[in-house]
Amino acid sequence: MNGAKAMISKKMMNAEQIEKNAHLFSCPVCEAELKLIDKSRLVCTENHSFDLSRQGYANLTTGGHLTKYDKALFEARKTIIDSGFFNPVLDSITNLISTQLEDKPEAAIIDAGCGEGSHLSTILRELKKNVTGVGIDLSKEGILAAAKDHPGHIWVVADLANCPFADEQFDVILNILSPANYAEFSRLLKPDGLFVKVVPENDYLKELRAVFYDETEREQDSDPTARVAEHFSAVKTERITYQFPLDQELLAKLIRMTPLTWGASEEKVNEALRIGIPSITIDFTIIIATRRNEGTFEC
Ligand SMILES: C[S@@+](CC[C@H](N)C(=O)[O-])C[C@H]1O[C@@H](n2cnc3c(N)ncnc32)[C@H](O)[C@@H]1O
Ligand SMILES: [Zn+2]
Repeated sequence: MNGAKAMISKKMMNAEQIEKNAHLFSCPVCEAELKLIDKSRLVCTENHSFDLSRQGYANLTTGGHLTKYDKALFEARKTIIDSGFFNPVLDSITNLISTQLEDKPEAAIIDAGCGEGSHLSTILRELKKNVTGVGIDLSKEGILAAAKDHPGHIWVVADLANCPFADEQFDVILNILSPANYAEFSRLLKPDGLFVKVVPENDYLKELRAVFYDETEREQDSDPTARVAEHFSAVKTERITYQFPLDQELLAKLIRMTPLTWGASEEKVNEALRIGIPSITIDFTIIIATRRNEGTFEC
């Protein structure tokens, strides 16, 4: 198939998913229902209209958004993800979701801050059941890569603080190494839905920090598990720690993909590549929670 034809068929695969699942959407301007017209634009009952891109993703942002996540960063991220760097984490998440969806003949998952879409696509493939996948990210470059590399799912440029989706539509919300908006996530999750968030822990990439900052301690964000517990119920955590081997090429990609090294001088980057980091520590917590339903009291 030539490039143009392949692009059209990817667009169609993505557009068909949007058309089939239009009930999930709500207009980001007026919150009315959206419908896909001519497999090419989402239109609400108030006539706000959003064209699908050539790759078949929708851009449902309102106003301009700046992001530091560019094309090169997502390409580096994809190489790292394809190397198996995140596999143990993705396996754990897939198992959690698989148990959660056991009795459901069909379900919908949203990945809020999906980046270039590989995590969501891998999880959907491994689940081996009829699950609708929706990936949203504020970065157009991330969603463009997702729509091209992982067709057959729903890819949307959107702000997770103003999600263009109707209430209580999702069985699972994923939020992997991305910012959260708990009011929005509570609104989107079905009453029996599952929230799964991945956050970095103290030792994550400590060897890289040692080279770039002469220290290995991570600056901790405010306690993310406590933040989740303020908004959700039955909060559990699972810590995942392992070592991953790095050759020169992967190290170069890792340096490119992580905000940790943004702004580092070229000398520092070259020094890191010269010294080499044969093995890197991966240290995450998966936070798992259910929706807090109105009227239930917790002791
Ligand atoms: C560290 S990356 C993680 C991406 C992906 N989950 C992964 O693990 O490869 C953080 C992502 O959050 C996205 N992001 C930041 N603020 C956002 C917002 N308000 N709405 C949607 N996405 C956002 C960024 O564009 C970026 O893709
Ligand atoms: Zn509208």
